[in-house]
Amino acid sequence: MTNSVKDTILKLREQITLHNIHYHTHDSPIITDAEYDRKIQQLRELEQQNPQFDTPDSPSHKVGGTVLDTFSKVKHEIPMLSLGNVFSSEELSDFIERLNNRLNSTTEPLFCVEPKLDGLAISLLYQQGILFRAATRGDGNVGEDVTHNVKTIRNIPHILKGDNVPDTIEIRGEVVMPIAAFNTYNEKATQKGEKNFANPRNAAAGSLRQLDSKITAKRPLAFYCYGIGLLKKGILPNSHYQRLQLLKQWGLPLTNEIEITTGIKGCMDYYQFMLENRNTLPYEIDGTVYKVDDIALQQQLGFISRAPRWATAHKFPAQEEQTVLLNVEFQVGRTGAITPVAILEPVFVGGVTISRASLHNQDEIERLGLKIGDTVVVRRAADVIPQVTRTLPVKNRQSKAIIFPVLCPVCNSEIERFEDEAVARCSGGLYCAAQRKEAIQYFCSRKAMNIDGLGEKVVDLLVDENLINTPADLFNLKTEQLVDLERMGPKKAENLIQALINCKQTTLAKFILSLGIREVGEATAKNLAEFFLTLDALKQADTEKLLEVDDVGEIVAKHVVYFFRQTHNLKVIDALLQAGIQWPTIAAKEKQSLPLVGKTYVLTGTLTQMKRAAAKEALQALGAKVSGSVSAKTDCVVAGESAGSKLSKAQELNIPIIDEDGLVDLLASFKAH
Ligand code: IVH
Repeated sequence: MTNSVKDTILKLREQITLHNIHYHTHDSPIITDAEYDRKIQQLRELEQQNPQFDTPDSPSHKVGGTVLDTFSKVKHEIPMLSLGNVFSSEELSDFIERLNNRLNSTTEPLFCVEPKLDGLAISLLYQQGILFRAATRGDGNVGEDVTHNVKTIRNIPHILKGDNVPDTIEIRGEVVMPIAAFNTYNEKATQKGEKNFANPRNAAAGSLRQLDSKITAKRPLAFYCYGIGLLKKGILPNSHYQRLQLLKQWGLPLTNEIEITTGIKGCMDYYQFMLENRNTLPYEIDGTVYKVDDIALQQQLGFISRAPRWATAHKFPAQEEQTVLLNVEFQVGRTGAITPVAILEPVFVGGVTISRASLHNQDEIERLGLKIGDTVVVRRAADVIPQVTRTLPVKNRQSKAIIFPVLCPVCNSEIERFEDEAVARCSGGLYCAAQRKEAIQYFCSRKAMNIDGLGEKVVDLLVDENLINTPADLFNLKTEQLVDLERMGPKKAENLIQALINCKQTTLAKFILSLGIREVGEATAKNLAEFFLTLDALKQADTEKLLEVDDVGEIVAKHVVYFFRQTHNLKVIDALLQAGIQWPTIAAKEKQSLPLVGKTYVLTGTLTQMKRAAAKEALQALGAKVSGSVSAKTDCVVAGESAGSKLSKAQELNIPIIDEDGLVDLLASFKAH
């Protein structure tokens, strides 16, 4: 029994040491953080339960990094330690209780609460206010000299400003690659066929550990400080929070989310807020940090082997987990797009169990170097669809190549892929049941023909039962054919037939939209209707004519022409018109005479007197363009309640701004004319 515990401990130590090298030395982890944390946790528990096997050299007591030989070494006069972790409110409560017991005080200490940035710890040594040396944490005692690289980071001051800067001060903080910059970097790397970084932290670490600082200079890194190390000939406040504010005065960057709070409730509220808002931050965070604010109390509490007793990290649930790719299925979409879908061994990540994830297209499979049987990383950030982000070099099963099909898995038509498109498509058009289903669903959808009671399930049933082949067949359905369908019944069947009658009175714009022409969304359908006025005129339009329409470019024009060239589409349109679909004639607008022609408006904030869509329509009816973003070309911004960044941008650019009352007056003034 004990022998096997010892074996497990030794095995875990060996694995963790290996993973430390991959993570810290090569910036290229081969397991997810969550898996690593579990191994460390398991090792610590085993060592605590079996102290006879605990040894000081166990990786559970170490900070993690080792020093690369290629940089000169820097000894940290004050070791750069790590933080303990809590993962739940119970563990947090234990942490606070331990503190209170040790402090033996009846009053709750104040906590400085901070985001836990997911980057790379750095020490900046300033002498007489001048950046003298920058070093990585390394193993906590000895780091690497990365001064030449750190000097290329734009928000790190080379000289501290202010009169009371200490003679020697070591600033500690985190170097990160902001998320937007990370995404752009990876997109460009993909285009160039280069390797992507697994996550912003590896990107930051990899960028900082360049021997050629010209490379680092090209990587958009940022630094935020969270503490002070060495201090000589200087006086600092007795509060950690106030010390950070002082650093800010000297020109050092702080994150915007640092606060003071107290007690478990204060910390938990902060944690919850940060968890919910982590996606709005420019940098990746993997938790929060709580630090006893009073420096005297910090000194009283001191350290345990690798971390301070006066602080802890509170980690967020993992957004990344590893699992196995069991298979790849190929789905056929409305436009025939073939989407490979990863079938995964179910894994709990970001709060839900994931068993499928889109792989987007063939290029993505190649980029990931994916094979069936591979161990992969699944990432699910809050509100973001799950993604397979990378493969891990774990060879635990026989892997099998993924064969992209040449024939449509639904209708057996050939799959085509145009040279400049990433997407492969089934060439079967409405012959393909998958495309038929999707086309019919789209036709019925709220923004198109708005047919109540015709959701995905009913459409699937109707197509599978061969009751309909095209949207036009919907109008030949009889109540008797519907009642017996699964979960239908007489009442629903009748309602559906009535909805089909009601929808026949529509608008040309909605009808154009309902045809499901590729790249023709609501705005384009509206522009097409207003430009051509009749369906016949649109059907006959050539590319040149289509390019005259607002917001129609080469691609949209190509798809419109292609759509109306297909005889099967024309047949469906004729049948729909035969069924009685109609719309009011659109009167040709004297475009130039509309009062707001040539003017661009932007709506922002909350409107209380009218819906935003109604305001947009009213402005468009007067000839204005309504855009989603403010630029120098904007003529006026309508700012409703709680308007944010668009309003500030308009102010910056000196663009006229009106409030909702101003808009109401403006619209009324044109009505009066
Ligand atoms: S304080 C002695 N504050 O997390 C206390 N660390 O897991 C030292 N980190 O090595 C750290 N954000 O790289 C502190 N607001 C924050 C932090 C933070 C990120 C990193 C840092 C540290 C690691 C510990």
